[in-house]
Amino acid sequence: MARIPKLFQPVSFRSVEARNRIVVSPMCQYSAIDGLGQDWHIQNLGAKAMGGAGIVFTEATHVSPAARITAHCLGLWNDGHEAFMKRLVALIEYGGAVPAIQIAHAGRKASQTQPWKGDGFVAPDAADGWLPVAPSPLPFAPDRPAPHELTAGEIAAIVGDFAATTARARRAGFRIVELHAAHGYLLHQFLSPVSNHRTDAYGGDLANRARIVMEAIDAMRAEWPDDLPFFVRLSCTDWIEGGFDADQAVTLCRWLAARGDVDLIDSSTGGISPQQRIPSIHPGYQVPFAERIRREAGIATGAVGMIREPELAAEIVANERADLVFLARALLADPAWPIRAAQHFGLPVDLVPQYQRALV
Ligand SMILES: Cc1cc2nc3c(=O)[nH]c(=O)nc-3n(C[C@H](O)[C@H](O)[C@H](O)COP(=O)(O)O)c2cc1C
Repeated sequence: MARIPKLFQPVSFRSVEARNRIVVSPMCQYSAIDGLGQDWHIQNLGAKAMGGAGIVFTEATHVSPAARITAHCLGLWNDGHEAFMKRLVALIEYGGAVPAIQIAHAGRKASQTQPWKGDGFVAPDAADGWLPVAPSPLPFAPDRPAPHELTAGEIAAIVGDFAATTARARRAGFRIVELHAAHGYLLHQFLSPVSNHRTDAYGGDLANRARIVMEAIDAMRAEWPDDLPFFVRLSCTDWIEGGFDADQAVTLCRWLAARGDVDLIDSSTGGISPQQRIPSIHPGYQVPFAERIRREAGIATGAVGMIREPELAAEIVANERADLVFLARALLADPAWPIRAAQHFGLPVDLVPQYQRALV
């Protein structure tokens, strides 16, 4: 048999081993009711676990009702949510994958419609709408009201919400937690000079803009066992002149690496403003950010963005440009992408018993 490509070799972070380096990237489904997952979520992530991925992430899971992108987003702030997540965790583990959760707050990008209903803002006085919060009273788009500028006390309360959701994630049995600090959501809004015009301890230089990220990690880590891994998703550039950029991302990642309690930077880009201009979107276009952070900050990275072909995924990992590959849309089109990729390389595939005799 051919040598096993590194993509399909097991990988460990702290006490957790994944069967391969293919990750189901977080993907919002806008199909929860009052934050509670439904049959939709069970079938959606169940199929991906059975499809052979090494790690399966939940969609962005929000820390409070106001933290949601839409009124239909997934949350983890009450006992009912926690019980649902236990079911989801068991199903992902049955498929042989590591259950992972992305924890998030939408900030000024909250109170939106489900994308298939127009991708718009829901007015605060409408049903399913509310006034978003943000570091500064700067709306995401000119047709939206200015968000509420968070006070220091309100920031502390949100940090507490991140910790409480992390404690629930641990009790539900998740094995990896990821802090969502990308795509223009609340923590990215603090990191970026585009959306953060504060003059207090949470604005100004990079250390101040990163303060809430560090506080959230401190609070979440206090609820998350040392032997379980902790990932951070960053937008490594705003794609806007004068915004958060790759140099700042490298500096921040050096600080995150120096903490010793963050295990991987999931390296994405963009989302802070409709003004962003991405020069070229092509397969693997965000990989250089994962590669640079890995090399210059000395921390493991995940690469994401238009990784669709098994050969590209294998090349990224083989050449140590990233430690993991995160796939989103390719896995929507084909939840069994990892099984097909294994077959492409002539490898034995790890199947649940129900599929074994049929597919091998
Ligand atoms: C339907 C959909 C929902 C998404 N939801 C999230 C999310 O909840 N959290 C997140 O960090 N990224 C989210 N993303 C971004 C993906 O995780 C991924 O970074 C992006 O789609 C690029 O990867 P791809 O080219 O493999 O799709 C979403 C993408 C899609 C297509």
